[in-house]
Amino acid sequence: MIDSIYQILAKIGYTHPLHPPATHLPAGLIIGAFLFALIAWIFNRKNLAQSARHCLILALIMALPTILLGLMDWQHRFGGAYLFAIKMKLVLAAILLFLLLVAVVYGALAGSFTKTVVAIYTLCLLTVIGLGYFGGELVYGTHEPAGAEATGLAARGEQLFEQNCSACHFTDSTATKVGPGLKGVFKQDKFPISGRPVSDDNFREILKTPFSKMPPFGHLSEEQVEALLDYVKTL
Ligand code: HEC
Repeated sequence: MIDSIYQILAKIGYTHPLHPPATHLPAGLIIGAFLFALIAWIFNRKNLAQSARHCLILALIMALPTILLGLMDWQHRFGGAYLFAIKMKLVLAAILLFLLLVAVVYGALAGSFTKTVVAIYTLCLLTVIGLGYFGGELVYGTHEPAGAEATGLAARGEQLFEQNCSACHFTDSTATKVGPGLKGVFKQDKFPISGRPVSDDNFREILKTPFSKMPPFGHLSEEQVEALLDYVKTL
């Protein structure tokens, strides 16, 4: 169901993830709300307090589709794997929703623009910065050698494959080098040697506990494994 949405988008030429562009809507509104709130509080300007509140209400509305698209991208690009950055984003997204709700409701109840309201606005801004940071971690990572052009998961995967796997695996055929050639391996039902059913989970499993002669790759980070998975799927 989710995959078919991405397939339709790919047909009309859109192949990027959906969540990153969407994040600018709530993020921009929260930055705006924070600035309005700060100025309203410092200079005691009621009309700017109103602007801040309106921005935050819009941010709350925009946050919902943004989170939904994030969950979709997560399923589509990371197979729903609980990477560290994903866990952080899930927690921060929940915190942000809560803070936005509190800010909107409390702001309306409190009437005047108090220190507490400004503090909640500030927390919203910090949470958004945190979300952006872990989003960046997911897309660009920090584990690659300097100078590596990180352009998407599969490209990183290709580099990792060169470094870790290409000594033993061809990518352009199914002929045996040391291990089996991996061309089209994800288009098969079973992995070539062990006969385990082809699935994302079994691929991750193979890297941790290979079938027999392949060395284990337990030292690779979750992100690196997902990048390899994405790349091997393109073969
Ligand atoms: C030192 C050689 C060597 C390296 C390096 C190596 N492999 Fe393998 N690989 C093998 C051998 C040998 C097999 C056959 C199964 C076995 O004996 O474990 C294999 C099998 C596989 C299979 C099929 C598993 C199955 O159950 O049929 C996959 C997928 C795979 N390797 C992926 C990778 C990836 C991805 C990397 C890099 C992270 C990698 N391999 C690195 C030697 C290697």
